[in-house]
Amino acid sequence: MAELKNDRYLRALLKEPVDRTPIWMMRQAGRYLPEYREVRAQAGDFMSLCKNPELACEVTLQPLRRYPLDAAILFSDILTIPDAMGLGLYFEEGEGPRFERPLKDFMDIAALPVPDPEQELGYVMDAVRTIRKALNGDVPLIGFSGSPWTLATYMVEGGSSKTFTKIKTMAYQEPEALHLLLSKLADAVTLYLNAQIAAGAQSVMIFDTWGGVLSHRDYKEYSLGYMQQIVEGLTREADGRKVPVTLFTKNGGLWLEAIADTGCDAIGLDWTMNIHDARKRVGDKVALQGNMDPAVLHAPPERIQQEVQMILDGYGYGTGHVFNLGHGITPDVDPEHAKVFIDAVHDLSQAYHTPE
Ligand code: CP3
Repeated sequence: MAELKNDRYLRALLKEPVDRTPIWMMRQAGRYLPEYREVRAQAGDFMSLCKNPELACEVTLQPLRRYPLDAAILFSDILTIPDAMGLGLYFEEGEGPRFERPLKDFMDIAALPVPDPEQELGYVMDAVRTIRKALNGDVPLIGFSGSPWTLATYMVEGGSSKTFTKIKTMAYQEPEALHLLLSKLADAVTLYLNAQIAAGAQSVMIFDTWGGVLSHRDYKEYSLGYMQQIVEGLTREADGRKVPVTLFTKNGGLWLEAIADTGCDAIGLDWTMNIHDARKRVGDKVALQGNMDPAVLHAPPERIQQEVQMILDGYGYGTGHVFNLGHGITPDVDPEHAKVFIDAVHDLSQAYHTPE
């Protein structure tokens, strides 16, 4: 494989020196971009877009054509695994993801297959190969998966939830059923991410969007423990380079030290954390990714620049910071404001690094 032309995202995750702070945005390919909406309409619906490697590649590259981002992220969804397990994923307009056959009990869980990533999820691997080729070494490609706990919430609730009643009832009433589900998902996620790495993903991220709804003890038992198992099973080197792993638990600020102890390379922070305190708490163990509130993108340009400055200042001098939002960019953001944000990180971050 050809050399990477811009590797500051990988270098920052590994705490190697960089000339400025790298940046990418969660959900950088998405509905806030008119060119995305156009391709999505052409595909028909969101899952058809995910299942078409050429179109998935096209929308992955769209934000990189507009902005000087330091990484591309595979265009797909975390719910591809439950879909491949046979639950029947569909998207109800304006209501988010749904499953035709949510999991009800131990019997359903015992019958679940662990999908072969090159078969049932072959379309994802094809997308990774297509995107990697199209990127031509410009920037690294990030692969991703949901965490076992976050996937399980959708599979048991049947879709998005506010209270997580069904899965929590399972946790308190039938914990062995939930553990069986989570251990199958940990196996499936490990295979899936390793297949993405084999197909060309140069870094991987695990999205634990719902870990933060668990009690203090349950987070370790039902979410972190399974993410640790995945981290231990991942391919950590490919093409002669390290493949950094980022864990992102939304509302996970309580558990930073424990997350850093899993052996991951970086922790994703949501905007509720003070990044200065987070850096003090994790020390040299891991890099940090984050953490601007995505809602700041609605503010006027000066306010966006001010917020970027405060976060850069909070993290302080030196490598180990990947700039990002604290969660995905929302569909109502003006693409010009995203540009102000990204340019501000470029311009203001150089002062925090030593020129080579
Ligand atoms: O970051 C990127 O650009 C890569 C693509 C990506 C998507 N989903 C595309 C997408 C990633 C990394 C995800 C992860 C994902 N999907 C998560 C974890 C991260 C997070 O946001 O918390 C979760 C919980 C999901 C499940 C999911 N998929 C939800 C809740 C939704 C939103 C439904 C809605 O109508 O808003 C999706 C759909 C989805 N995934 C869209 C995109 C661009 C919007 C689909 C569309 O209508 O075009």
